[in-house]
Amino acid sequence: MAQLMYDAMAAAGYERGFARISSHFIPFLLGAAGVTAGHRVLDVATGTGLAAEAARALVGSIGHVTAADISAQMAERARERLKAAPNATIQIEDGQALGLPDASFDAVICSLGLMFFPDPARGLGQFRRVLHNGGRAAVSVNTVPERSYNTRIHPIIARYEPSLAADAARLFSLGNERTLGTLFAAEGFRDVKITTEKHAFGVGSFDEYFDHVERGWGSAGQVFVSLSPDTQRAVAKMSGAMSGIPAVPSRSKSRSCSAVGRNKSPSCWTRTVAKIGLGESEQSAMLPAHPGTAAQ
Ligand SMILES: C[S@@+](CC[C@H](N)C(=O)[O-])C[C@H]1O[C@@H](n2cnc3c(N)ncnc32)[C@H](O)[C@@H]1O
Repeated sequence: MAQLMYDAMAAAGYERGFARISSHFIPFLLGAAGVTAGHRVLDVATGTGLAAEAARALVGSIGHVTAADISAQMAERARERLKAAPNATIQIEDGQALGLPDASFDAVICSLGLMFFPDPARGLGQFRRVLHNGGRAAVSVNTVPERSYNTRIHPIIARYEPSLAADAARLFSLGNERTLGTLFAAEGFRDVKITTEKHAFGVGSFDEYFDHVERGWGSAGQVFVSLSPDTQRAVAKMSGAMSGIPAVPSRSKSRSCSAVGRNKSPSCWTRTVAKIGLGESEQSAMLPAHPGTAAQ
């Protein structure tokens, strides 16, 4: 698990490498959670605070956002982002053991974070505990390696470092609709809905893409830089081969990237899907804790 904890280097490059990926899915997450003016929102696994900042814009001055992350380095980035906001607080918290009071939030969001938890069910149980009756939790998670932007590197690394295979598999363990829906329902959420959001992100070349990894940015990058030079070379080669992205950018190809999502230019990398899971908290004593009525 230590390998997946975001360290200083992983945090330092996160914005430059991946903000555009996370940011695309955040509006879907906030919409699913029903975040609106005056809400008290908890953003678990906030990272650099991208979703927390977007939530703050919605809740306005009468609402409040708590941004929490297990990584002190990531939380520090969120603190820098939100330091001028009077209605935002940043906390270092394990999402599986939140030190926050029961029934204290209208919405809990978790953008591309739950699949990092060793025990995501425990995390969802905590989300439910801190929600008031009728509050909503919404999470986004990776689906499959071929459709992830950066996390796909983990399974490739695991081919050369089998000791990392379990961590790599966990990052895609919630990508199945039934699995995610069942997990929400088992933790007592009702009216569970799962949607799939697809988006294509363009890159000019494989070298441009992989530069983030070689610099140690993000979760895959920090694992990559800890590998031996031989293993790094092998992982880079396989990543290139599996990506289908040309190694060298060409002017015409990179220009065509501006139309990414609408054309199939080989320089446009068409993948990345996030599943958005949503569950309404059901904490009334009138209702059974495990109603088994989840709709997906
Ligand atoms: C891919 S980043 C997502 C960051 C941010 N939510 C975003 O969408 O840009 C995953 C984040 O989950 C955090 N994380 C991993 N395990 C966690 C846990 N058990 N509790 C809280 N945060 C965790 C990491 O530190 C990291 O900041």
